[in-house]
Amino acid sequence: MSEVAITGFAKSFDGGESFALEGIDLVVNDGEILVLLGSSGSGKTTLLRAINGLIQPDAGRVTVGGDDIATLDATALRRTIGYVIQGAALFPHMTVAENVGIVPNLREWPPERTAARVDELLQLVQLEPDDYRDRMPAELSGGQAQRVGVARALAAEPCMMLMDEPFGALDPVTRVQLQDEFKNLQRSLSLTTVLVTHDMTEALLLADRIAILASGDVAQIGTPAEILNRPASAYIEELLTTPRRQAAELKGLFTS
Ligand SMILES: Nc1ncnc2c1ncn2[C@@H]1O[C@H](COP(=O)(O)OP(=O)(O)OP(=O)(O)O)[C@@H](O)[C@H]1O
Ligand SMILES: [Mg+2]
Repeated sequence: MSEVAITGFAKSFDGGESFALEGIDLVVNDGEILVLLGSSGSGKTTLLRAINGLIQPDAGRVTVGGDDIATLDATALRRTIGYVIQGAALFPHMTVAENVGIVPNLREWPPERTAARVDELLQLVQLEPDDYRDRMPAELSGGQAQRVGVARALAAEPCMMLMDEPFGALDPVTRVQLQDEFKNLQRSLSLTTVLVTHDMTEALLLADRIAILASGDVAQIGTPAEILNRPASAYIEELLTTPRRQAAELKGLFTS
């Protein structure tokens, strides 16, 4: 079980003068993809980092599988949670294989098991292992680095995934491919996932539920259909303009 419950969460970065996030109550159900959507600076990364214990709240608590993470061993917790860091953030002095194998190595898997897992994941994210495993991050395109970041997060068979704009720098075709592959994998493993994006179309297509952050709080949470049919504010209505227009224009092309 890896349900996440965030209760009364608040975080300030200036000693309490202002709050990046305040009064956040949010549940991520076991096995669902919850998409966190919000503009730049709305606190998406802060909330992800709170779930794996990289940020301590000023108020409130975060539980994973019913356990308050403040009472858990932080290192052990992080090794069970796959984290795709915003902008990929690979270790520049390590090869692709070493980057993907970081957590398996920390968990002291036998080298053959790690090597096999690395190749399996590189295949999954469509990077031919023979071509890519020995490259350095500087020898990758932005989209390739991002795919390595996704492979790295999946490496140690996590029970949960935190993904910070994982598909951001990809071309549209690769992006849809990787979204589909991730969704299949997520379903087959029942991986509880929190995925950050500022792209409403991506949120509508990927999410079981979407939580929209605005002004330091959760402005609305619901299924894609609920958000589309009953946006709770003018701001959310506005966020839906682009996907609605795209859908209408595409539909027009098919029927004409
Ligand atoms: N370590 C920090 N010190 C001071 N302020 C911070 C720190 N981390 C985040 N903040 C502030 O908290 C707010 C939320 O930041 P956060 O990184 O969570 O936003 P975000 O929603 O992930 O934005 P983006 O879409 O640009 O990645 C911002 O105003 C940011 O400047
Ligand atoms: Mg961020």
